[in-house]
Amino acid sequence: TKEGYPHFMIKEIHESPKAVKDTIEGFISEIDLIKEVADEIKNANRIIVIGAGTSYHAGLYFSLQLQRLGYTSIPIIASEYYNLKAKKGDIALAISQSGETIDVLQGIRKMKNEGAKIISLTNVIESAIARESDYKLYMKAGPEIGVAATKTFTTQLASLLFLTEVLQGGNINKLEKLHQEIRDTITKVEGITKRIGEKLSKKANIYYLGRGLSLPLAMEGALKIKEIAYVHAEAYPAGESKHGPISLVEKGFPVVIINDGELTDLLQNNLMEMKARGAEIYTVSVNKKMKDSDIEIYLESEFPAIVISPVIQLIAYYASVSKGYDPDKPRNLAKTVTVE
Ligand code: M6R
Repeated sequence: TKEGYPHFMIKEIHESPKAVKDTIEGFISEIDLIKEVADEIKNANRIIVIGAGTSYHAGLYFSLQLQRLGYTSIPIIASEYYNLKAKKGDIALAISQSGETIDVLQGIRKMKNEGAKIISLTNVIESAIARESDYKLYMKAGPEIGVAATKTFTTQLASLLFLTEVLQGGNINKLEKLHQEIRDTITKVEGITKRIGEKLSKKANIYYLGRGLSLPLAMEGALKIKEIAYVHAEAYPAGESKHGPISLVEKGFPVVIINDGELTDLLQNNLMEMKARGAEIYTVSVNKKMKDSDIEIYLESEFPAIVISPVIQLIAYYASVSKGYDPDKPRNLAKTVTVE
């Protein structure tokens, strides 16, 4: 049941703190398995990360992090799996909420045949993808009814951050406070995300810009608002926007900038370029503020992605409901995609 919430989507966004808490506790109790997985990653020739939709965005986030740490990691969109030939010595990480997405399943079957080992991260015990994996990791987000992935995305990010900490020999205990940060963020941004969502719902097109690790989050923000509010949104690496996309920008064109605090100065340049053409600027910043945005959401966290995640979801949610749509049942979409 919706337990007093108007939609499953908003209920599930509010369940994110618990989902993350349960997942982190689950990972701590399975620390031997996580360490084994980390060793496999360390010893692999290449780490291929595969997923679809939102799960692909979580995978891209992780893959970029691995690349930064010096690993050879290749992110692939599940439905494009045929472009990659795996080899013995490779490891593939399959990310899927349902654990049933057919393209992910086909992708891991192919890579397994080619000699790769498979790790899965799913939200359903003994899901099809888990059953075909050498190592099964689980998020503990509980059932997600809304078609839009919300708490499961935040939980995927938390799981992958945990794995990154273990890979680096970092301190996993600091992840235990993540759920509190998510709860505080949701309380803090509910009103402002509603305002932004209402404004964006009136637009025909939106750019979501990010750089570095905030790019996958920009991609997720754009997917979410497209999916449930039917507003065309495109995510771009902010620097790449100069190579074509900026020609669309004119007075009132909305640009959402996701700033995780790492590349703020460069993003600020992009903001100014957009602003000079009359763009309406919305920024979601963590740890470092930006200047000259029309509306800024500012947060602080050691794990920027985790707090940005509910913000972009809430913006999409409010854009959808302000247009009178049911965000739980977007047209043309199924919760689980089992056809190729
Ligand atoms: O169950 P999965 O994580 O494999 O699903 C993948 C995508 O179908 C899914 O994330 C989809 O993009 C969501 N509806 C996005 O909100």
